[in-house]
Amino acid sequence: MLYPPKAITAIALASLASFSSAQTPPAEQSTAFNSSFALTPAQIAAANLSAADVASLNNIVRFDRSQLANGGPNEDDFYTLPPLTRNTTGPLQPGTLLKTQAFTDPSAFVIPPNTALSRILYTTRTYNGTVVPASAFILWPFTPRHVATTAGNQRDGQKQTYFAAKSAGAPVVLWSHGTSGFFASAAPSSHRALWYGDAAPFTLALAGYAVVAPDYAGLGISKTWGDKNNSGANNIPHQYLMSRVSARDGLYALRKLDERFVAMGHSQGGGVAWGVAEVLEEPEGKKEFGDLAPGYRGTIAGSPSTQVFTGWPSIIAPFISLGIGSVFPSFKLADWFTPAGAARVELAAQQLFLGDGAAGLLQEGWNETWYAEAYSKLADAGRRPLRGPMLVLQGTEDIYVPYSVTNASVAATCAASPDSGLEFLVVNGTGHVPTLHATRQIWLGWIQDRFEGKPAATRGNGCKRTELDSFLPVEQYLKVGNAFAQWAGAPEYNYQVPLGP
Ligand SMILES: *[C@@H]1O[C@H](CO)[C@@H](O)[C@H](O)[C@H]1NC(C)=O
Ligand SMILES: *[C@@H]1O[C@H](CO)[C@@H](O)[C@H](O)[C@H]1NC(C)=O
Ligand SMILES: *[C@@H]1O[C@H](CO)[C@@H](O)[C@H](O)[C@H]1NC(C)=O
Ligand SMILES: *[C@@H]1O[C@H](CO)[C@@H](O)[C@H](O)[C@H]1NC(C)=O
Ligand SMILES: *[C@@H]1O[C@H](CO)[C@@H](O)[C@H](O)[C@H]1NC(C)=O
Ligand SMILES: *[C@@H]1O[C@H](CO)[C@@H](O)[C@H](O)[C@H]1NC(C)=O
Ligand SMILES: *[C@@H]1O[C@H](CO)[C@@H](O)[C@H](O)[C@H]1NC(C)=O
Ligand SMILES: *[C@@H]1O[C@H](CO)[C@@H](O)[C@H](O)[C@H]1NC(C)=O
Repeated sequence: MLYPPKAITAIALASLASFSSAQTPPAEQSTAFNSSFALTPAQIAAANLSAADVASLNNIVRFDRSQLANGGPNEDDFYTLPPLTRNTTGPLQPGTLLKTQAFTDPSAFVIPPNTALSRILYTTRTYNGTVVPASAFILWPFTPRHVATTAGNQRDGQKQTYFAAKSAGAPVVLWSHGTSGFFASAAPSSHRALWYGDAAPFTLALAGYAVVAPDYAGLGISKTWGDKNNSGANNIPHQYLMSRVSARDGLYALRKLDERFVAMGHSQGGGVAWGVAEVLEEPEGKKEFGDLAPGYRGTIAGSPSTQVFTGWPSIIAPFISLGIGSVFPSFKLADWFTPAGAARVELAAQQLFLGDGAAGLLQEGWNETWYAEAYSKLADAGRRPLRGPMLVLQGTEDIYVPYSVTNASVAATCAASPDSGLEFLVVNGTGHVPTLHATRQIWLGWIQDRFEGKPAATRGNGCKRTELDSFLPVEQYLKVGNAFAQWAGAPEYNYQVPLGP
């Protein structure tokens, strides 16, 4: 999910307005921000922020931090790395399990009643192959969905290393989230609603799937073991929008579960899910994940990021710039930003948002520099072979991932790989995240069909395109979600939750 800074401000301000009229709550009741963050005078001066910017940013950060369970990765012990114990078999490998929290206390989360949560720390690798620690969550259904077993659906009982034995056999959806941020505190595994809430992970778990979801490298865990002087040399970059890099984060998390699985993602994660389908088809990926391939059933890529630099410059430029140096060390902020823009990025690098849009902050032609072209080549999903079947979902009114861009990427991929089993579902009149809500029955049905081993419509028949119109006139529907799951307080206050206990 990509938010323009103004939308976040609006959310924060709307929340404040409603708080002021609320009854005085018991101390632990969260009808106020669980954060008293304020920018320092030095930060304000360095980034030349106006008083209005400061007021907005303080509210945004307080709102944002209030969404974190147990104070988030910087305070929650789960995210503390265990000591690195090297052994004689060689260097640390990606896909090594580091820590298991078999049952996460759900009371600080807003997951649906009768779902359960586990979290793991494990290792993955960056684009250039550095092995780094990362985190992931698993959201468990109350009852696993029964899917008729077909040939190839067996699983290897030996590999069930981190979840309750009773849950063995739940079909898995490997969920790749849309943009949540760029630093440790942006980890969906520490977000009270697991970031995407009802839009996908809650829906999947309530439908009987075990939802395995990586926080991409750099989120959740932001430092490797490295030196103790905290010099910054051990920072883990979030290599933003690098679809096949984040795809590996997911596959290495899944390695510990080794199950029948469908990959699914949205936005940034739509590109990542598409990347999973590509990695499984690469010669290198076939070697790396040969053990997972037999369990793979297909991919759903919702509103996918496939052409990085067609995204909003005010989001794309600063946030790629934070991680691009880990791929191209010669990159300098001045390659893309004006001095004022670079000052804002420095503030963002202190794990804060940027403030206002990109006007005056970007160099003319920044998106046509060598770095932009080179990054795009490494990052973009699409236009290469993939392991299908794959269903791409796209709304025509999407302001973040334009329909025309996905349409072109699907066409080019289809030309490059006509027999991969690509289905393109175009929804007339829906926006970015709401396309997931509009198509829920379709993707749930598609996932069930894959687990039941039904042949995908497109296998060997070229690509398929379907257009979907709403049942009622499209203008009669709520276009944009106007609610966000909020934590209503410690368990002793849940008598106040309508539809609660
Ligand atoms: C700071 O911002 C103000 C108001 O936007 C602008 O007039 C001024 O030139 C900026 N100063 C610097 C050093 O960028
Ligand atoms: C509220 O924030 C504090 C400080 O970050 C944190 O220690 C605490 O766990 C948070 N409360 C909940 C219920 O998440
Ligand atoms: C060393 O690490 C590897 C990979 O994590 C593991 O498979 C092996 O059992 C370990 N050996 C010892 C002696 O701890
Ligand atoms: C850490 O800092 C100490 C004291 O400044 C210095 O002697 C040491 O060399 C540093 N270690 C590393 C790994 O940078
Ligand atoms: C990472 O890989 C890219 C593409 O192969 C290469 O251009 C770049 O120099 C590498 N960066 C590092 C830090 O090794
Ligand atoms: C770069 O951005 C400009 C202005 O938004 C746009 O006109 C141009 O097509 C973009 N170039 C590329 C290669 O995307
Ligand atoms: C979508 O792609 C098809 C080619 O597959 C093209 O004919 C059509 O014009 C495109 N539509 C839009 C709106 O980009
Ligand atoms: C999309 O919906 C609009 C409004 O209902 C309608 O006018 C238009 O014909 C539809 N477009 C397609 C391609 O079906």
